[in-house]
Amino acid sequence: MTAPERQTPDRWTVVSTAPFPAEALRRFLPEGTDAEIVVVEPRTEDGAVAAVAEADIVIGDFTFEVPITRRVIEAMTRCRAILQPSAGFQQIDHVAAAEHGIPVCNCAGANDVPVAEHTVMAGVALMRELAWTDRQIRAGQWPQFGRQNNEVASRTWGIVGFGRIGRQVAQRLAGWEMTVLYHDAFRPSAEDEAALGVEYAELDDLLARADIVSLHVPLLPATRHLIDARRLALLKPDACLVNVARGGVVDEAALLEALRDHRLRGAALDVFEQEPLPAGHPFTELDNVILSPHTAGTVVEAQVRILKKTKANLDRVLTGEPLVDVVNDVG
Ligand SMILES: NC(=O)c1ccc[n+]([C@@H]2O[C@H](COP(=O)([O-])OP(=O)(O)OC[C@H]3O[C@@H](n4cnc5c(N)ncnc54)[C@H](O)[C@@H]3O)[C@@H](O)[C@H]2O)c1
Repeated sequence: MTAPERQTPDRWTVVSTAPFPAEALRRFLPEGTDAEIVVVEPRTEDGAVAAVAEADIVIGDFTFEVPITRRVIEAMTRCRAILQPSAGFQQIDHVAAAEHGIPVCNCAGANDVPVAEHTVMAGVALMRELAWTDRQIRAGQWPQFGRQNNEVASRTWGIVGFGRIGRQVAQRLAGWEMTVLYHDAFRPSAEDEAALGVEYAELDDLLARADIVSLHVPLLPATRHLIDARRLALLKPDACLVNVARGGVVDEAALLEALRDHRLRGAALDVFEQEPLPAGHPFTELDNVILSPHTAGTVVEAQVRILKKTKANLDRVLTGEPLVDVVNDVG
């Protein structure tokens, strides 16, 4: 779809649903740009509806808290672009935006490396019981031989979702002397597989063979509860699961039960069906789980890349150049 032709306004209106200070946003614009900056308050759908009518540019919320729903999009009268300062954009109804000729841009690729690094770190930490030994020492113990603790060399890693992040994981595993399996809806060429040192497996086969399984598929209707009770039962009793994709990719109730019954060694969870994870959630009571608050990708370097990418697209809107990282096919 093509975005409608619009005249360059004398004064730009930039509306941010992200909690950036208005002054920081002003510094984001080229010097001399005549612009009104509005930071949405209250941080709700209604707050966004009330703020966006005159917006030329809308900044998406990197906390995903303020939704840009169809209702918010229908309240926009002249928006040229929605710029999301993160890789994920699940709080934006990008289909509704496309129907209104509004491109939605994200920061694809900005945090592939840190998410892959986190994945490898979490998988190895689970195999080595790192979080558990830390807790034991704090409790006054010294459990040198207390719990099964294995090296990963000669083990098998299963990557589910072989896109940007899945491939970065494979690249990072190159020196670990592991067999690396992957599963994806699309298969790269045999040359790519060989270059990355990976072997394709059907999902059930991968789950049954891998010692560490990491998840890197997007949350879509087809991937909701992709890892359900039946598939969890395929895992080896000493297998580890790393979820850095989205909480809904795993049936959390089934995972909780499997972890409680020690039907797998452990899980490292960076993402949850409900975020923030409610206080006192049963996952927090388990000794075989490593938890992180959706921080796999939030390293300083990624934040700098995200700001640079968002600024570059902001400048493109101001100068009328074609946008990059458009996720909803609006040219
Ligand atoms: N934890 C974090 O901080 C964090 C940060 C960035 C991204 N993520 C998550 O990681 C996901 C993957 O990111 P990416 O950049 O690698 O995405 P990507 O689009 O490059 O790769 C996703 C891969 O999943 C595959 N896929 C989709 N549906 C599938 C299915 N039903 N079965 C098998 N394969 C399927 C696609 O073919 C693709 O190769 C994102 O969608 C996001 O949810 C998490």
